Amino acid sequence: MTTGTGESEIVLEGLSKRYGTFTALEPTSLSVKEGEFLTLLGPSGSGKTTLLQMISGLVDPSAGRLTVNGEDWTHRPVNQRGMGLVFQHYALFPHMTVAENVSFPLQMRKLPAADISAQVEETLRKVQLDRFSHRFPKELSGGQQQRVALARCFVFRPKIILMDEPLGALDKALREHMQLEIRRLHKEYGTTVIYVTHDQEEALVMSDRICVMNHAKVEQLGAPHQIYSDPETVFSATFIGHSNVLKGTREAADDNWATVRTANGTFSGRYTARDKATQDVALVVRPEQMRVGPAPSSEFEGLRGRLSELVYLGSETRLLLTLADGTNIMLRHDPAAGAMPSIGEEIEVHWLKSLARVVA
Ligand SMILES: Nc1ncnc2c1ncn2[C@@H]1O[C@H](COP(=O)(O)OP(=O)(O)O)[C@@H](O)[C@H]1O
Ligand SMILES: [Mg+2]
Repeated sequence: MTTGTGESEIVLEGLSKRYGTFTALEPTSLSVKEGEFLTLLGPSGSGKTTLLQMISGLVDPSAGRLTVNGEDWTHRPVNQRGMGLVFQHYALFPHMTVAENVSFPLQMRKLPAADISAQVEETLRKVQLDRFSHRFPKELSGGQQQRVALARCFVFRPKIILMDEPLGALDKALREHMQLEIRRLHKEYGTTVIYVTHDQEEALVMSDRICVMNHAKVEQLGAPHQIYSDPETVFSATFIGHSNVLKGTREAADDNWATVRTANGTFSGRYTARDKATQDVALVVRPEQMRVGPAPSSEFEGLRGRLSELVYLGSETRLLLTLADGTNIMLRHDPAAGAMPSIGEEIEVHWLKSLARVVA
């Protein structure tokens, strides 16, 4: 087992991919530390798979450089990288048992038979499949098959594992269980993992850092709590969790603080925009940061709107407010704050200024 030394293991410098005139990934620079769990998160078509496949060697970069532990791996053949790969379609060998599937990477590496059976047994125990070692893939559920695929990957102890939406075919309950399972395996083996998903909750649960991607570019890279509390762009603010967005024009600003003039009033907040040149900015406030009622002091700001919808979600009820210019705002109903307002009612909401963010 290895523990992260804090050294950057994988370094991308301006790595990009073009297909003819189409750009699948703009020049991208980032680094991944040994033992880190990094998630590429973004909507379909944002370039996640392209980026992952250039690291795996399955896609050849158009420009830029990839180094692993200081060695140039930009064009190194996939079979000389020794990385573990897990995809959504597990691609198990149907004519081989679970144990034979999992032993395959060790057979390829010509390990002694005794070592193979010991390692297979240990890995199957770790994914709780030791009782199924003689079954064939078609005799297993989707979740069990995906656990075989994970075992087949972890069994040869690769230092780097790349996973592309490995849980995409599973239902929600199983997906949540497998997320914790993968995280546990990652910790136990000390493997560096680069993980692709379009599911923001999955990214928040699993990752040391999240790389938010959109339109073939990295929007933001940071720890889950950083991205959640200090989004740099409207896209980051709305793709990870919900944000209320009031678009406007930047007025006063210094490094950390900015004022925005919007159709619904002038507001201020912490200035986290990455692009500080543009005047087109937006105030973002999370639903959980808004409360019903007039602003109680000058530390708060607020606005008024008409309650247009109530959304019941079991654990909470959300209020949807429509502002004068048609912008919609969402917040949670706080049972402690009084009775549920009725649809059509005009209500005031407020938030602590220091929690609002100004992004670009
Ligand atoms: N072999 C290819 N030829 C042409 N375009 C491609 C190819 N592979 C991917 N693309 C395009 O590149 C963009 C990014 O794709 P991809 O990296 O698969 O996105 P994601 O994994 O985020 O859904 C998409 O618009 C996709 O259609
Ligand atoms: Mg993809």
